[in-house]
Amino acid sequence: MEFTTTTATLESLQSACVITGIYENQELTASAATMDKLTNGIISNLLERGDFEGKTAETLIINVIPDSTIERILLIGLGSKQALSPKNYRKVLTGAIKNLKASKASNAFSTLIEIDVDGFDAQWKTRQTVEIFDNACYQFNEMKSKKAPELKLQALRIMVPSEDTIEAAESGLKQGIAIARGVSLSKRLADLPGNICTPSYLAEQAIEFANNYDNISALVLEEEGMAELGMGSLLSVSRGSRQPAKLICLEYQGDSFDSKPYVLVGKGLTFDAGGISLKPGGGMDEMKYDMCGGASVLGTLQAVVELELPINVVGLIPSSENMPDGDANKPGDIVTSMSGLTIEILNTDAEGRLILCDTLTYAKKYDPEVVIDLATLTGACLVALGRHPSGLLSDDDALCADLIQASETAGDSLWRLPLWEEYQDQLKSNFADIANIGGRDAGTITAACFLSRFTEDFRWAHLDIAGTAWRTGAQKGATGRPVPLLTQYLIDRAHAEH
Ligand code: BES
Ligand code: MN
Ligand code: ZN
Repeated sequence: MEFTTTTATLESLQSACVITGIYENQELTASAATMDKLTNGIISNLLERGDFEGKTAETLIINVIPDSTIERILLIGLGSKQALSPKNYRKVLTGAIKNLKASKASNAFSTLIEIDVDGFDAQWKTRQTVEIFDNACYQFNEMKSKKAPELKLQALRIMVPSEDTIEAAESGLKQGIAIARGVSLSKRLADLPGNICTPSYLAEQAIEFANNYDNISALVLEEEGMAELGMGSLLSVSRGSRQPAKLICLEYQGDSFDSKPYVLVGKGLTFDAGGISLKPGGGMDEMKYDMCGGASVLGTLQAVVELELPINVVGLIPSSENMPDGDANKPGDIVTSMSGLTIEILNTDAEGRLILCDTLTYAKKYDPEVVIDLATLTGACLVALGRHPSGLLSDDDALCADLIQASETAGDSLWRLPLWEEYQDQLKSNFADIANIGGRDAGTITAACFLSRFTEDFRWAHLDIAGTAWRTGAQKGATGRPVPLLTQYLIDRAHAEH
């Protein structure tokens, strides 16, 4: 979809659909009042009849507007007349686009920037509009022989309510478009099936992506290269698969060479069958999504390069399958990681940490400002937090505060779990330096404890996105999270540094 901002007003507007807000108790927004006047009171008539109450995200489409160059009006409820919470504003946008998509309108004109939102300005409102509308219009059709018809809706104009908000709205538009592109890149890669989106495919996509830009380069480490570096832990996982592992390294240069990079590490398991510790069959197809961390590293870089952020960012994506081949890891096997630590593999299904630990060790060579890894790491995270926030684990309070703030702005929530040293004992092994699992209790925390053993040389945070990276059930599909959060975090860093 094409998004633009405009200072056009409702009078003499041509549009297939104007989106306008109504509060409860028949209180009209300024644009709803204008529309009411322009249509000889269609809206007030409707409200008097009680056809529309104005409850948050309630919608009604008026399909026929006599003698008007506006073909439709989409009314959207805003709740009681006061500044909306950011959550409710997002609900309103979600409700609006859902209805708009179902209508036959080919273009629309949104007035929703005029609505007050608690703590956020026109930039944020514009950006949220673009992100939410674009996200809702994402379709994954490419594997169907009969493609679903393209969406009728092609263009959205966003009305800027006053001269002094033009700049903010334009900046929000730019950010929204960049993030939306990042989110849909991430979603597409994640939604592709495991037989197509293999580690090699992911590596090719990364190279193709980097080739589009002067200031991004991609380098792919092959298994031989990884063996030379001593990545015995990572390579033990791909031994169980016919697909060779790849370590994808993307470098974005937005600042001088000596400026330390922000390093993002994304788990890229293109299919996780569990290995010899085979997973049960039900729902196993969803383990194609075990590369969502890697996909969102690419998505975030897409947003970063489009925004030309003046910082350096490195994306590292260790990619492999986890399969039960004759040469696969077996429970009890001991492998040596690049850091030198030996690992007893008590469960081959705890493979994410095995590929991440060597990548975290590798990250050291970049002398990073900060390292953030994102991984669909533990089913336990779903048990603890459900599917709303991603889990955040780090012993760096300042970094956690920055990430949580970014998550609130982005509407891409996080919840911090403790990473206390008390939990480290659960990883004791009788035969190696460390075990790859920590028992039934606190599985998300012990997984992060495992990673923490490889991150002592830099500031680091871990995001467990097992509950947030994709939706299950009838709405099954990738979400592109945490691209909005990470992009916001990097926007904030760019602002802080310059
Ligand atoms: N990719 C899974 C985690 C996962 C499971 C994410 C279900 C989302 C939904 C990961 O590799 C895994 O299998 N983890 C194990 C760890 C256990 C063996 C300690 C798990 O969560 O069961
Ligand atoms: Mn697993
Ligand atoms: Zn996994």
